[in-house]
Amino acid sequence: MSFAIRSYHPTDIGALYDVCLKTGDSGEDATHLYQDRELLGHMYVAPYLAYEPDLAFTLTHNDVPVGYVLGTRDSVAFADRCERDWYPVLRARYPLPAVEDKSRDAGMIRSFHETSTAHPELADFPAHLHIDLLPIGQGQGNGRRMIETFLARLRELNVSAVHLGVAKHNQRAIHFYEKIGFEKVVNYDHWGWIGYGLKL
Ligand SMILES: CC(C)(COP(=O)(O)OP(=O)(O)OC[C@H]1O[C@@H](n2cnc3c(N)ncnc32)[C@H](O)[C@@H]1OP(=O)(O)O)[C@@H](O)C(=O)NCCC(=O)NCCS
Repeated sequence: MSFAIRSYHPTDIGALYDVCLKTGDSGEDATHLYQDRELLGHMYVAPYLAYEPDLAFTLTHNDVPVGYVLGTRDSVAFADRCERDWYPVLRARYPLPAVEDKSRDAGMIRSFHETSTAHPELADFPAHLHIDLLPIGQGQGNGRRMIETFLARLRELNVSAVHLGVAKHNQRAIHFYEKIGFEKVVNYDHWGWIGYGLKL
């Protein structure tokens, strides 16, 4: 039984969508919350694999993908690219839901229709990342090794700093990021998440 970290390979995409869904409720399984199992992956996995494949790493357990760390070196350029090339396709496939539709699916689809912009409060931290591991991969140092792999790649690319967002209820991830050395930069109370940053 062994874990390994390797560069993302296109054959991982289905498994990584699954990881995204199974950790998508503030770190817990969100499968019961969504009818469409792909919505979270469309937002938080696929555009990074498409536009920043050099910054996508897969955690495997006995060669089976069980986690990822992915992100972008330049959040402003990435938001522009998504606005130009990613969201138009999603918006065509997922039209705006009726206003009375209060389901999680509808909420996620509405977010596809919002203009994607970088957050000015985090402008000093141009890169950003997302990390999610299935329970089988958690609590054994894999998260730290994944982040270190990602940060090493950012340093190779001469990136100065990185940020991430974490749901304020996800105390486990908050402890993890603070242990790694991230510092709180901004509280987005209205959205329920906190922005953390790290200088490289
Ligand atoms: C958050 C997550 C990435 C952390 O990865 P992990 O492999 O479980 O964490 P590690 O075992 O590498 O722990 C790294 C360090 O953080 C600390 N840490 C991890 N979880 C902690 C907790 N709940 N409380 C306090 N410290 C914690 C560890 O003690 C360890 O410190 P050390 O290296 O000095 O010994 C992982 O648990 C995960 O994917 N969770 C579900 C999805 C999620 O919440 N993703 C983040 C969304 S923003």
